Amino acid sequence: MKDLIPTPPPLVQNKFESVRELFSKNVVPSYGRFDLALSHGAGSYVFDVAGKRYLDLGSGIAVCCLGHAPPAITEALVEQSKKLIHVSNLYYTEPQGRLAAEVVKRIGAGKVFFSNSGAEANEGLFKVARKFGHDEGRFEILTATNSFHGRTLAGIAATGQEKVKKGFEPMMPGFRHIPFNDLTAARNAISPATVAIMIEGVQGEGGVTPAAVAGEIALRALCDEKKLLLFMDAVQDGHFRTGKFQSFQRILENVPGGEKFLPDGISTAKSLGGGFPIGAFWVRAPFADLLGPGMHASTFGGTPLACAVALKIFEVIEHEKLGEHARKLGDWILSELKQLAEIYPTVVKSARGLGFMLGLELAEKIPAFASSDKSAAIQFVNRLHAAGVMTIPAGTQVIRLLPPLNLKPQEAAEGIAKIEELVKSLA
Ligand SMILES: Cc1ncc(COP(=O)(O)O)c(C=O)c1O
Repeated sequence: MKDLIPTPPPLVQNKFESVRELFSKNVVPSYGRFDLALSHGAGSYVFDVAGKRYLDLGSGIAVCCLGHAPPAITEALVEQSKKLIHVSNLYYTEPQGRLAAEVVKRIGAGKVFFSNSGAEANEGLFKVARKFGHDEGRFEILTATNSFHGRTLAGIAATGQEKVKKGFEPMMPGFRHIPFNDLTAARNAISPATVAIMIEGVQGEGGVTPAAVAGEIALRALCDEKKLLLFMDAVQDGHFRTGKFQSFQRILENVPGGEKFLPDGISTAKSLGGGFPIGAFWVRAPFADLLGPGMHASTFGGTPLACAVALKIFEVIEHEKLGEHARKLGDWILSELKQLAEIYPTVVKSARGLGFMLGLELAEKIPAFASSDKSAAIQFVNRLHAAGVMTIPAGTQVIRLLPPLNLKPQEAAEGIAKIEELVKSLA
């Protein structure tokens, strides 16, 4: 009798479950996703499909620099879309030229190539390096251990983390890793084939680790001495996140000689478009024409629509002084996080970062996390979701705070209060 009565379908289907089902049936499962299906957002808040509100301190991993649904971006999109959304890079368009000029103005003499993502921006720089060293047979690029440079084949070869390479061997040749912030190791690693060094000013995925002040200046000198190009991957730490347009401008401010420091190439993406996909690399003047006509291209790179959005973002950030704001409020958040490390050392090991690129390193062996095989970072982020706050894990022990640049002081206070409540409950 029991077998004849089928289980009745649930009367109200859970919306999250139905979204998840669409994914499990149709989307390549290459991401480890949290149990959250998001529906819409406004400012620093985002809502899930059940209507629950979250304070978004991750902003799409350092992307939504003006928060969610910012009217300025909507307006720029609407206005530009009425004129011209896309034309081929076979033609000139004013927004792309103007955006390149804005980037050059803030970095230094050079030129810009537009891509669609951070990984692609790095790919472009790798090609610049290979072209630079080609006639001498130099092609090798040194990157740092724990670095992250994207998920393309060159990106995973460049990334200094084994986990992104596993299963995709053999790696593309021409990349070797050196310990971050270790100049002697960098010097010793240079071979006759080496042509460039690439670092992040603040390692993001690697756990929010800033480059050492002396290290940046010394790397520049080493690259000059050995005729190497020095590249900075600013995909995550760029675009005012640390308080200055570029993280090296923040790290080297007030450092003797710091104002003269310039890398030879910088890659960027994420906040450049505030959520609209766009990436770019800037290359310093002496090398700016290495990639000539026909040598590098992207169908969607630098469309009028993407560039109009990016131009508007520059305007808003500058007008509202959001770099300085991120710096000041970031200092406050960091001091609060450092206090948590002092008061609750069994839960928080340390806090670090610059501006709105902050990391909270969790202590080893938090008892409440012992029964799960998930990393401490993931468990912490999950519990913060339950409390209505979104943050981003980095590795197994660090959570990142990468809020929108226009985060309000009361929102920062709300986030800190919820983080403190969680830390206290775990102590
Ligand atoms: C430093 C850095 N470089 C490159 C990338 C890759 O960017 P994208 O995901 O846009 O390809 C990322 C992404 O997180 C990054 O943090």
